[in-house]
Amino acid sequence: MGFLQAVDKEKVPCHVAIIMDGNGRWAQERGLPRARGHVAGVEAVRKVVKAARRAGVRYLTLYAFSAENWARPKEEVSALMDLLVSCLHGEMPLFLENDIRLRVIGQEEAFSPEVKAALQEALDKTAANRSMDLVLALSYSARWEISQAARRIAQEVKAGTLDPERIDPDCVARCLSTAFMPDPDLLIRTSGELRISNFLLWQIAYSELFFSPVYWPDFDEEMFYEALVRYQQRERRFGKVLSATGESGKRTGLQ
Ligand code: FPP
Repeated sequence: MGFLQAVDKEKVPCHVAIIMDGNGRWAQERGLPRARGHVAGVEAVRKVVKAARRAGVRYLTLYAFSAENWARPKEEVSALMDLLVSCLHGEMPLFLENDIRLRVIGQEEAFSPEVKAALQEALDKTAANRSMDLVLALSYSARWEISQAARRIAQEVKAGTLDPERIDPDCVARCLSTAFMPDPDLLIRTSGELRISNFLLWQIAYSELFFSPVYWPDFDEEMFYEALVRYQQRERRFGKVLSATGESGKRTGLQ
C-alpha cells in the first residue's frame, strides 16, 4: 500500500512548509552546473504541489529564495530569477486547473521589475482561487520579518494607536507577513541538513519537524505523503499534558 492510502483524511495538516534543499549537491554529484539542480527542483515542486492539493493541504509554503541567497554567484541568482519567471508563466495552468491561489512572502521590493511584474500577474490571475494557497517565500528572512513587525508595533505605539500593554503574541503574529494563514503544522526539510536557516522562526514554535535525507530534485509525491503519515503518528501537545481522555491538561514547564 502506498503512503497516500495511509494518510488519514481527517487529520491532514492544514499548513505544510518546506525548505527545499539539495539542488546544488544533486547537480554537482552528476557533474552538472548548480543551476541544473534548480531546474530539476521545479519538477519536484510540481509533484509536491499536486500531492499537497490532492491530500487536502490548505496552505503550502515553499522556501524558494532566502534573503541570504542574493550572496550566491551572479549566474546562479540570475538563473534562479529566470526560472522563477518561467515557472510563474509555465505553471499557470497547474494553478488554475487546481484552484490554487499564489501568495508571496518576503522582501518583494528586492526583485527586478521583470520578476515583480511576473509575480503580480500570477497573484492577480489566481486571486479568486480558494482550494489551496501556494505561498512562495522569496527573498525571505524570518529575522527580517520579525524586525519589520517590531518596527510596525513601535510606530503604532509612537503614534498613540497601540497601548504597549496590549502587545502580546497575537499582536506580533498579526504584524507578520503570514498573518493571513495559520502557523505551519508540519515543516519538512530535504537533503539531510538539520537546520531551520532563518525560515518562519516565529511561526514554527509548535510545528512538527520532518527531515528527509533526499535531495530536493528527488523528493516526490510518495515522500510527501510519507511525511504526512509520520506527522499523523506524532502526538502534538503544545506544551500541555494530555489526559487519558485526550483532553488537554495543565501546562508543563517544558513547552
Ligand atoms: C536549495 O538548494 C534551493 C534553493 C536555494 C532554491 C529552491 C528553488 C527551486 C526548487 C527552484 C524552483 C522554485 C521556484 C519557485 C522557481 P541549494 O542550492 O542550497 O542546494 P545545496 O545545499 O545542495 O547547495
